[in-house]
Amino acid sequence: MVDKTLIDLSWDDFDEHRDPRPEGNEFDQVVDRAISRRGFLGGTLAFGSGAAVFGAGLMSSTTAARAAGSATFAFDPIAIATDHAVHVPRGYKSQVLIRWGDALWSEAEGAYTPETGVSAALSDKVFGENTDGMELFDIDGREVIAVNSEYVNPKINLPAASEGVPQSADEVTLLKNLQGVTVMEIARGEAGYAVVKDSPLNRRITHETEMTLAGPLAGHELVKTSADPTGRRVKGTMNNCGSGRTLWGTYLTCEENFNGYFGATGEMPAGEGYIRYGIGGTGRYAYEKFDDRYDLSKEPNEPHRHGFVTEIDPSDPTSTPVKRTALGRFKHENAEMVQASDGRIVVYLGDDERGEYLYKYVSSGVYTEGAATDGLLDDGTLFVAKFNDDQSGEWLALTPETTGMEAAEILCFTRLAASAVGGTTMDRPEWVACNPLRAEAYCALTNNKNRGVKPNAGGDDTSVNAPNPRETNKYGQIVRWTPTGGNHAAEGFTWDLYVMAGNPTVYSNAYGGSANINAGNMFNSPDGMAFSSDGMLWIQTDGDDDNEGDFAGMGNNQMLVGDPESGEIARFMTVPNGAEVTGLCWSLDKTVAFVGVQHPGGSWPDGAGKPRSSVVSVWREDGAAFG
Ligand code: FEO
Ligand code: CA
Ligand code: CA
Ligand code: CA
Repeated sequence: MVDKTLIDLSWDDFDEHRDPRPEGNEFDQVVDRAISRRGFLGGTLAFGSGAAVFGAGLMSSTTAARAAGSATFAFDPIAIATDHAVHVPRGYKSQVLIRWGDALWSEAEGAYTPETGVSAALSDKVFGENTDGMELFDIDGREVIAVNSEYVNPKINLPAASEGVPQSADEVTLLKNLQGVTVMEIARGEAGYAVVKDSPLNRRITHETEMTLAGPLAGHELVKTSADPTGRRVKGTMNNCGSGRTLWGTYLTCEENFNGYFGATGEMPAGEGYIRYGIGGTGRYAYEKFDDRYDLSKEPNEPHRHGFVTEIDPSDPTSTPVKRTALGRFKHENAEMVQASDGRIVVYLGDDERGEYLYKYVSSGVYTEGAATDGLLDDGTLFVAKFNDDQSGEWLALTPETTGMEAAEILCFTRLAASAVGGTTMDRPEWVACNPLRAEAYCALTNNKNRGVKPNAGGDDTSVNAPNPRETNKYGQIVRWTPTGGNHAAEGFTWDLYVMAGNPTVYSNAYGGSANINAGNMFNSPDGMAFSSDGMLWIQTDGDDDNEGDFAGMGNNQMLVGDPESGEIARFMTVPNGAEVTGLCWSLDKTVAFVGVQHPGGSWPDGAGKPRSSVVSVWREDGAAFG
């Protein structure tokens, strides 16, 4: 039985509750160690208690030299909000495109009611809950969005008597069906964009959808189960967080907190692989009580079949999704694919857990438009990022030679491989976004209360380091890098911090943020990111929105726009209190942005009844493109 209080914890706090780790480094030692790194401290400022060291020298010259009042944004930045509404700049409009429980097919009309939520019988025919990453595709002129439903809130989905814990197999099925992926056609009418009900392209992919396992781990002993002795056929994709898209027009959905779905009703299998991934104890939704597949004491290999990037063809509702094991197994945030200047495919990948790593995958073969893409996501090399204090960096290959692990083991226990080669522990890598105008990538490091406090689950040191320079980092930062020679497949790079979020009205030290943060644009916990075609960086937050104390003046979660050249950042949108902003894509003509609002509070957007995670459309009143 799930502890009923646990369901209220965030996914990462849930993990720490199940697997508490010992307190590690003493604060003073952390500070001493950081400050002693004089190799990169030229021109940097050391701050007093509470901040280890602030590497001003790590900031880009444009960012550090940011001049106030030279905004180049095509909108008037908005103020913070603390209400239960969506706000966009003057001259822009927004409206809801689709809500949790809205029908994708006519047969599911009325599946949702404010009193009872979604009916179990129709739960795989409606838009799922807690919308996250999404991409829009041009399918023979039709606009089709593929969008993740990351997780469910059982307290609003299950009958009140269940108190947030499934009491039957049917209740488990309801929760399973409201997660996963939705593929939906949209079309513009007089009232703006709407979902095309009954489109032949509409599809729901859930925890029960059949998919295949591909790449070097497929067929290995580690992924064989009693239901699948081949180790090549898997049911479901889970905790679908961020997204990506291939150059050949398919959707990439990223399995993040997959570990929380498994529990043991009997003896728990032993092994470092379970410990490092936080697998064990009771599952978040008690699936293991009703479905042996999630019971670790019966199916110890089932969790080895999740935690991947899964490829979905949005043009063919009958296609079988493919889990791409070559991209490694961890808490995948998103998958940012670019073509390197040498023709190979590069996919940047964050592992969102405190003190884990940033990765990239480089294909062995090259991509040619129109040519077969077989093998491009199955045959390649995975690398982990190592950031040096002198603002250089290198991608360390994860191979049998470098890690002492078999190729398949590297892909199943990628975190162990990254530890073996000495990657740089990061402050929770969330989305990576690549600048379309130059060879440059950005990663949101959302926050890390454990930085400088205790090691990661593998025991790796997480003292402050150059790209993660603040102990108990409550605000987050965005690191960016330029690959050597402008080639994303290169093993070297140079880096800087694009922004360190902070609160300059509360702190005059490193926690006040970098020079491009001020009282008018401050935020915490950068998470979702995407570039628009004009080379502007859109930043979405998933942070503390109580607007008090360290977070006073930051208001609700928000979406901001950053100029990579000047470092300027301006607030574009705020979402209802309680919600995070996550997921962003544009209509084909770039006149409408689609933005995800996850876990809103109150009874948004209906004004009564349950809160409903939704995708909203945002457009300029003059109809101009802005993406
Ligand atoms: Fe699902 Fe790390 O966000
Ligand atoms: Ca996220
Ligand atoms: Ca987050
Ligand atoms: Ca989330």
